[in-house]
Amino acid sequence: MTDTRSMTGKTVLITGGTGGIGKAAAIGLASMGARVGIIGRDRLRAEEAAAAIARESGAPAVDVFVGDMSSQAEVRRLADEVLAAYPRLDVLLNNVGGFWAHRHVTADGLEHTFALNHLAPFLLTNLLLDRLLASAPARIVTVSSGAQSMGTIDFDDLMGEQAYSGSRAYNQSKLANVMFTYELAKRLEGTGVTATALHPGVTSTAFSAEDPAMGLLVKVMRPFMRSPAKGADTAVYLASSADTEGISGKYFADRKVKRSRDSSYDTAITGRLWQVSANLVGL
Ligand SMILES: NC(=O)c1ccc[n+]([C@@H]2O[C@H](COP(=O)([O-])OP(=O)(O)OC[C@H]3O[C@@H](n4cnc5c(N)ncnc54)[C@H](OP(=O)(O)O)[C@@H]3O)[C@@H](O)[C@H]2O)c1
Repeated sequence: MTDTRSMTGKTVLITGGTGGIGKAAAIGLASMGARVGIIGRDRLRAEEAAAAIARESGAPAVDVFVGDMSSQAEVRRLADEVLAAYPRLDVLLNNVGGFWAHRHVTADGLEHTFALNHLAPFLLTNLLLDRLLASAPARIVTVSSGAQSMGTIDFDDLMGEQAYSGSRAYNQSKLANVMFTYELAKRLEGTGVTATALHPGVTSTAFSAEDPAMGLLVKVMRPFMRSPAKGADTAVYLASSADTEGISGKYFADRKVKRSRDSSYDTAITGRLWQVSANLVGL
């Protein structure tokens, strides 16, 4: 990770910043001088994480925003709080996400994986977009996954009501992250605000810990996983590096542009997903 102060004067918001990849990215970006805000569901956990990020990065303080991003009302409230707290926003790191082997429904009646992994960053980004545009050059970085390469957007059963499996829902949501990024980049052309997505690599975090069905698999895999700092490296690179300035509409892994699933380049599908998502979040 770069140890320069290249992010001094910049404000960064990280969703899911209380642990795992988000927390490691927060440490990386705060170490470069950024003012960092993190979002998590639990105030105590978020405040403890903020204190640890400040301690490890040497930042004077890390801001905390508390809310359950699976709820659209909470995302809207969080966006209002962020807009009130931050007169400028240079980087939005959409990192929140998870895996559920069993189908759950959110407060809005939507399937949890799609709601949290895709609709939450979709809504938050749109609500913060004017502030990002006013802060240009600015960057929107979304943590997808290599799982996007196995995803399909099932417009006839987006919420997995007819057939649900954890991997089907997760792969779909991570492909949606990439499609959202490509469509967003197209819409932001010429504005100075960029949108990129990334695969962090298989990383040792609390990922899927809420789902006991995944416990054994994660236990077996853990020795082969990368550290959170390594998992955060490409996100930090896209959020901060001069090398990635102006790059938009691309999917990265290990700091390199990678081709994503063929369907992600189909603008009829990405445009349709955007419209369906906008309807689902009431934009
Ligand atoms: N780990 C991997 O191998 C891997 C591989 C590919 C992609 N990814 C992607 O990387 C991203 C980060 O994953 P991770 O491995 O770092 O997971 P993690 O350790 O489980 O961290 C998830 C973060 O999201 C927050 N969060 C979870 N649900 C939330 C909600 N409803 N509202 C607000 N915040 C919520 C958690 O905070 P609280 O619990 O404090 O609320 C935590 O800060 C995800 O998008 C994931 O899909 C991970």
